[in-house]
Amino acid sequence: MVKETVKHLNPYVPEVTLTELKQRYGLDRLVRLSANENAFGTSADVVKALDSWHYADANLYPDSNAEQLRSLISTRFNLNPDNLIFGNGLDELIELLSRVILSPGDEVLEPATTFSEYQLHAQIEGAKLRPIDLDDSGRINLAAFMREVNDKTKLVWICNPNNPTGTFIAPEAIEKFMADLPTTVTVVVDEAYIEFTGEKKASVIQLTKRYPNLVVLRTFSKVYGLANFRIGYAACTGPLIAYLQAARLPYNLSTFAEIAAKAAFSDTDFIDQVVDTVISERKKWEHFLMKSGLLFYDSAANFIFFQVKGGDADGLYEYLLKNGYLVRNGLRAGWLRITIGKPEDNQAVQDLIAAFLTK
Ligand SMILES: Cc1ncc(COP(=O)(O)O)c(C=O)c1O
Repeated sequence: MVKETVKHLNPYVPEVTLTELKQRYGLDRLVRLSANENAFGTSADVVKALDSWHYADANLYPDSNAEQLRSLISTRFNLNPDNLIFGNGLDELIELLSRVILSPGDEVLEPATTFSEYQLHAQIEGAKLRPIDLDDSGRINLAAFMREVNDKTKLVWICNPNNPTGTFIAPEAIEKFMADLPTTVTVVVDEAYIEFTGEKKASVIQLTKRYPNLVVLRTFSKVYGLANFRIGYAACTGPLIAYLQAARLPYNLSTFAEIAAKAAFSDTDFIDQVVDTVISERKKWEHFLMKSGLLFYDSAANFIFFQVKGGDADGLYEYLLKNGYLVRNGLRAGWLRITIGKPEDNQAVQDLIAAFLTK
């Protein structure tokens, strides 16, 4: 009835609603620090822009090309507007890239610990997934990737900063990797969290102009605080962009989403403020984890991945949940990932962890 490849999938497990969890645990307040959402909401300009939407247009299909948003983004990044493709979140673009590029038997390289959707879609397309170990500091090891490239390799996923480790590799390393790689291999650099590096030159988006086999992914779900609106985009050049456009759904971005994204993208003050706060809170988290003797990876993102002393990640997860904080468990045995939240919540979670460790 269904194709073989979908019979044994490990589907992505979406977040349980906060309402349901609150009921289950009898909580009045529950803060979600498990999905790497923006703890500071979104720009106030988004609300204003949406309020002025002409609701009488609800019966009309949206602009299939999201021309206004396309123009804003391509101008800021000095890209050709035709070299952008939008998706219903990056989720849709990850699916589309896998669908367009992969055939059964092709090989896909990805970091051994990374965002699970690369694997899911490789499996659906019948491709063979080859996870490549991270180095000892939890960083993506491009030299190890290069060693595994062969005639069957079609797609390489580089998540930078990597989810869930938060680790970041320099754009120069990716540039060298591109220069050495056969052009028959497509490299996708998922930059969902790139803004949180705080570095203006962290992205490799400009390299798409030189390498037609490079795709760079960006999203409005993280620093722009619009996860609910589902807006992501890819930058790439060459024949691939036309193939992706031909295979995508025609109306995958609602006008509502486009209006929200335009407003969020234009409010650079809000973004700068969020990034500054996340970076200063991240330093406090690192200080706390170091002081507590907990192993963690250097994060350049809005989350931090650490090992629970004694390995009781399930116990700490439950303890935090019962005390009103949902974090991410199950990504690696004995480890938890925590989204960097508001300062008062970070402090409260750190106090809870300290109390749990002395129990
Ligand atoms: C690395 C990475 N890529 C892509 C996504 C999906 O993002 P979107 O909300 O744009 O679908 C996520 C979501 O958490 C992510 O962590």
